[in-house]
Amino acid sequence: MDHSHERKGVFITFEGSEGCGKTRQVAELDKYLQQQGYPVLVIREPGGTTIGDQIRGILLDFKNAEMCFRTETLLFQASRAQLVDQVILPYLHEGGVILGDRYADSTLAYQGYGRQLDLEQVKSLVAFATGGLKPDLTMLLDVDVEVGLQRRAGGGGWNRLDNQALAFYKRVRQGYLNLAQADPERWAIIDAGQPLEQVQAAIQQVVMHKLGEKGIAPTPNRSSSG
Ligand code: TYD
Repeated sequence: MDHSHERKGVFITFEGSEGCGKTRQVAELDKYLQQQGYPVLVIREPGGTTIGDQIRGILLDFKNAEMCFRTETLLFQASRAQLVDQVILPYLHEGGVILGDRYADSTLAYQGYGRQLDLEQVKSLVAFATGGLKPDLTMLLDVDVEVGLQRRAGGGGWNRLDNQALAFYKRVRQGYLNLAQADPERWAIIDAGQPLEQVQAAIQQVVMHKLGEKGIAPTPNRSSSG
C-alpha cells in the first residue's frame, strides 16, 4: 500500500553509523525550525510509541545476547509499523514536518549490509512494516568509522547493539553510501567529520530548500504562541 497520496507534510530522516552526531543535530534543527514557526515533530527509532518503547527495551537489553538476526530485524519492523500508523501518518496528514532520528534505511544498513542478511528479503520486510511510506529527504551524516566509535565511547551509553566488531560498522557505513548513491534524489550526504556548527549549517541549507520545494510554510504566530 502506498500512503503518499495522504501526505501534506514533509518527512525528513537522519541516518548514519555510531557517533555521527545525528541525535544532537536533529535537536538543533528542531530548535531552529520551531523558532521559525514550523510545526515540527521529532521521532526516534526504535521506539516512539508505547509499544515501540517496549520493543526498544528488548532490542537494547544486554540480557538478550542470544537474539538472532532475524528476530532483531522483525522487532525493528514491529516498532516501526506502530510508529508509522500511530504517529507519522497522522502528523503528515496535518501538514507537519517530521524529523526522524533513524527510519527504514537503518534496517537496510544495519541488518542488510551490517548483518549481511538477504537484502531483497530485508527490503520486503521494510516495505511491509512501513506500508510503503518513504521519507521525502534523508540526510546521511557520514563519518569515518573509527572517529565515530571514539566519539561514541566518550559519550558513554553503550548497549547491546553497539557491541559489534569494527568490520560490522564499516559495512554499515558502506551500505549507507551505496543506498545514497543509488537514490541521489532522496539522499543528501553530509560530512559529519566537520565541526558541529558546520554540519548544522549544511543540514539547514538542504532542509530549507526541501521545505520550499514542498511549499511548507511556517504557521503564523506559532513561534510566539507556542
Ligand atoms: P540508539 O542508542 O538509539 O543509537 P543511535 O544513537 O546510534 O541512533 O540505538 C539504536 C541502535 O539500533 C543503533 O545501533 C542502530 C540500531 N538499529 C538497527 O540496527 N536497525 C534499525 O532498523 C534501527 C532503527 C536501529
